[in-house]
Amino acid sequence: MSIGVFDSGIGGLTVLKEIRKVLPNEKIFYFGDTARVPYGEKTKELITRYSKEIVEFLLDKEVSAIVVACNTATALALEELKKTFKIPIIGVIKAGAKTAINTTKSGNIGVIGTKATVNSKRYEEEIKKLSKKNIKVVEKACPLFVPAVEEGILDGKLVDQIIKTYLDDFEKEIDTLILGCTHYPLLKSAIGKIYTNLNIVDPARETALDLKEILEEKNLLKNDATKNREVKYYVTDGKDKFKEIGIMFLDENIEKVELVKL
Ligand code: DGL
Repeated sequence: MSIGVFDSGIGGLTVLKEIRKVLPNEKIFYFGDTARVPYGEKTKELITRYSKEIVEFLLDKEVSAIVVACNTATALALEELKKTFKIPIIGVIKAGAKTAINTTKSGNIGVIGTKATVNSKRYEEEIKKLSKKNIKVVEKACPLFVPAVEEGILDGKLVDQIIKTYLDDFEKEIDTLILGCTHYPLLKSAIGKIYTNLNIVDPARETALDLKEILEEKNLLKNDATKNREVKYYVTDGKDKFKEIGIMFLDENIEKVELVKL
């Protein structure tokens, strides 16, 4: 029994990190579609096609559940994946929405993500579905965050400037901010330093807990205490770059990465 985790590239490693904390015994297959990243500027049709191809690849590895560790693919493709495939497939949006609802005091929630995620309005839909309270949701795309993170620019003047350009006005309308893109948790501390009163939500932890609950419910959890923390990594391009910057997302070394063609 194993779990499949996929992202458009490297960002999903922030979700993988939390999954490994919550489920230390599970074997995991991580797939990063590094040849076709970014998904954030692509159409629903294309993102859905790519996501289906990845799920099929992971099914060949006989995974018993899949985590869509990418906000954009969750926003645009999760519904279709759930209709098409029989195994449990979960995304990151529900988890982020739940945490924000439970922690907002003013009822004003902001969501930042890629253009595709923000335009899909999936976060707003999910928040309205899950909450009976009168919650206001505002969303904003922050396309410069992804390249900044991939360049390792996580603090300092440049990143502060980028954050302020996107968020100075936006922040005034909200008390809670959902990091609706898998790269953004790496900017959590920089954002938190500028807006000290902001409640910042990273959906990764809650996603890992949701996954655990589903695996328990379906009796798919590995019960023996012997730790099998093995993770197998697959990418569609740039093995070396993945290894090199992966450590920043995962806080540990990535030893072996396999290149695959879909
Ligand atoms: N992983 C994507 C997300 O969480 C960000 C990178 C991309 O645009 O593919 O939305």
